[in-house]
Amino acid sequence: MARINLGQRAGITPTPMLLIGTYNDDGTPNAMVATWGVTATWEVVELNLYKVRKTTGNIKTRKAFTVSCVTQDTLAQCDYLGTVSGKKCPDKVQRTGLTPVKSELVDAPYFEELPVTMECELLRIDPEEDDISLRILGTVKNVSIDQRVLKDNGKTLDFDKLHPVCWDNFSNDYFAIGGQLGRWFTLGKPYNREGFRYEE
Ligand SMILES: Cc1cc2nc3c(=O)[nH]c(=O)nc-3n(C[C@H](O)[C@H](O)[C@H](O)COP(=O)(O)O)c2cc1C
Repeated sequence: MARINLGQRAGITPTPMLLIGTYNDDGTPNAMVATWGVTATWEVVELNLYKVRKTTGNIKTRKAFTVSCVTQDTLAQCDYLGTVSGKKCPDKVQRTGLTPVKSELVDAPYFEELPVTMECELLRIDPEEDDISLRILGTVKNVSIDQRVLKDNGKTLDFDKLHPVCWDNFSNDYFAIGGQLGRWFTLGKPYNREGFRYEE
């Protein structure tokens, strides 16, 4: 099959859709969508945020933010929060009807309707390779999960209840994540004929 070349551009897809919660200077909650966000280490998350975002300024001031997994139930509200800036619409969170809750650990809000949240303290802001964005590193102080999306006696996330959403870098469309395909360390076993052990 022939392949096509798209040239030099970001191409990691799909990526998880995340909602970033912060406080404005006057204490009103703000939120934006980020799909350029990754796990950096077990304790650190990394976001790529444009310098102009209200959220970026809020993180610099308050030194904190929350990262929540966007769900199908909250997708329309989050799409709106990802397309209108708090600079133009300071009450944008209120307009969505989402319920902000003050984190007890960091100076940022999370949202009751989004069941999986990381509460993060600003670790560091690094320059990016371009002039327009910043690499924002946050130390995860806590992962907070609403019990309604758990299974196995509260030990694991139930994707059939959470309904997380991902985003495609090429089409700009949102997609559902679902359908368990197997368990890690099991599907690849037939290829590991020598039985090599996993190295940390
Ligand atoms: C699907 C989606 C993904 C986005 N990902 C990012 C991102 O990773 N980084 C970023 O700076 N902006 C991203 N945005 C844009 C911001 O969410 C948007 O500009 C938002 O209105 C900023 O709000 P604020 O100015 O109140 O912080 C994304 C928007 C959408 C809809």
